[in-house]
Amino acid sequence: MATHTITLTVNGAKERLDVPSNMTLLQMLRERLALTGTKNGCEAGECGACTVLVDGEPVNSCMMLAVEADGRDVLTVEGLSEGDRLSPLQEAFVEHNAVQCGFCTPGMLMSAHALLERNPDPTEEEIKEALVGNLCRCTGYVRIIEAVSAAAVETAAARAADKRGE
Ligand code: FES
Ligand code: FES
Repeated sequence: MATHTITLTVNGAKERLDVPSNMTLLQMLRERLALTGTKNGCEAGECGACTVLVDGEPVNSCMMLAVEADGRDVLTVEGLSEGDRLSPLQEAFVEHNAVQCGFCTPGMLMSAHALLERNPDPTEEEIKEALVGNLCRCTGYVRIIEAVSAAAVETAAARAADKRGE
């Protein structure tokens, strides 16, 4: 199997890796960079458990080759928190009991994070639309949607306070 040298940014850190041409981005993150927060559910592009952001857009990392990430900027769930401090979105998932087994949670968080970055004040419909590719077997989605709404309110308030210089 041919290998390729790729350079990319993962969670703000520059990485240079030799990867086989058939290695997926999901395999590279989990096996080469030990970023096991990104989950392997179906490996078929159907469950969304492997969702990461590539240049700010959610992608199923099981469906993207590592070589396709050459030169790109990748954000995984490990990149959402600052050290031990969870992001407001992660806090909202905890507070609203939006996590049960947790297997879908990293992918849900990444899709929701991308939504809030481009639309800080989404409607319930917009939240549902953003999460349509992320399947959850446990929660029934209601608490997840509530958590994203709550995080949106908090993020908007924090941005407004920033603007006022508080
Ligand atoms: S593991 Fe990638 S979509 Fe299910
Ligand atoms: S919390 Fe278990 S699959 Fe979503």
